[in-house]
Amino acid sequence: MNSASAAQAPAIDTPITRLFGIRYPVLLGGMMWLSDASLVAAAVNAGAMGFITSRSSADVGAFREQLQKCRALTAGKAYGVNLTLSRRQGANDIVSDMLRVALDEGVRHFETAGLPPSPLLPALREAGAVVVHKCAHIRHAVAAERMGVDAVTLVGMEEGGHPGSNPLPTFVNGAFALDRLSIPLALGGGIGHGRQIAAALAMGAAGVVMGSRFTTAAETPAHPAYKQRVVEADEHCSRTVLSTLGDTWRVLDNENARRVARLENEGARSYEAFGEWIRGHRARDYAYAQGLHEEGMLSLGPAAGFSRAVEPFAQTLQALMLQCREALLGAGRLAGGGEAP
Ligand SMILES: Cc1cc2nc3c(=O)[nH]c(=O)nc-3n(C[C@H](O)[C@H](O)[C@H](O)COP(=O)(O)O)c2cc1C
Repeated sequence: MNSASAAQAPAIDTPITRLFGIRYPVLLGGMMWLSDASLVAAAVNAGAMGFITSRSSADVGAFREQLQKCRALTAGKAYGVNLTLSRRQGANDIVSDMLRVALDEGVRHFETAGLPPSPLLPALREAGAVVVHKCAHIRHAVAAERMGVDAVTLVGMEEGGHPGSNPLPTFVNGAFALDRLSIPLALGGGIGHGRQIAAALAMGAAGVVMGSRFTTAAETPAHPAYKQRVVEADEHCSRTVLSTLGDTWRVLDNENARRVARLENEGARSYEAFGEWIRGHRARDYAYAQGLHEEGMLSLGPAAGFSRAVEPFAQTLQALMLQCREALLGAGRLAGGGEAP
């Protein structure tokens, strides 16, 4: 460790940090096109857990390369893989292939999302993997617990990406869920400041899942012009579309999203009716690759508003954990004594 380690925020011990063998109770949720080996390795090396999005790779060969690169960058530390099961027909065959490759490469930490993880669990269980399932409804979290996952992340409507059809915000979800679950719970959606991490922990959650706040990390594989657009954004930077399809998508409020919203207002009610405008590759090819941030559906939530600069993942995480500690110490004083961690 270098001299900067003296100023490192102290580790926080929770059931989530123990499950994932990490220093801080922060999960970097899988981010389509963005959670590659570089970003996930940066998260892991900084003391969090990250998940490479298997769907971002064109085929199993490219995915295997990402895994091998991440293993090299993390010098053997555990890192994770995100397996998102899609609602779109025929889109899930590739997921079991990706899972096989991940297990073969020694990955044992997984974030499942989208549909219930039941088709993936036998292989995951057999390999002794740690599985955190991400969902938006408490009833789905309870069902996942019954299926045998190790932990759940529950996301509120503030989440960047697909917060599901549950209109409840993160901390309402969380407060109700804690009474109904016995496995560790991480909360996500709208979390971009350390005081929110403290609030989640104080409430009884074992960690948080974050995404939007890290879209501007130096290691995130996106064009500087896109990151600058996010750095300049505030808490009103996002909007939701496609809720009429039961597939709410929270994205940067750019020209593309406004076009999609107009189509929806005019009565479009099927994926086909939105055509090109909702195709994922537009985000990758235009915004992330070329910095054309008014193009594509760019998953993002209000937590991005906390981002003030493009900086290394580790620097942001340290700032977050110091803010978290300050808030926990303040809450400890209110409670009349006991030292916060
Ligand atoms: C750019 C971006 C892409 C995302 N892609 C996925 C994905 O492919 N699969 C998934 O499970 N979650 C995805 N998410 C959700 C994140 O994993 C995480 O749950 C979310 O970002 C947490 O909420 P926050 O954005 O308010 O921090 C994405 C989020 C963002 C911002």
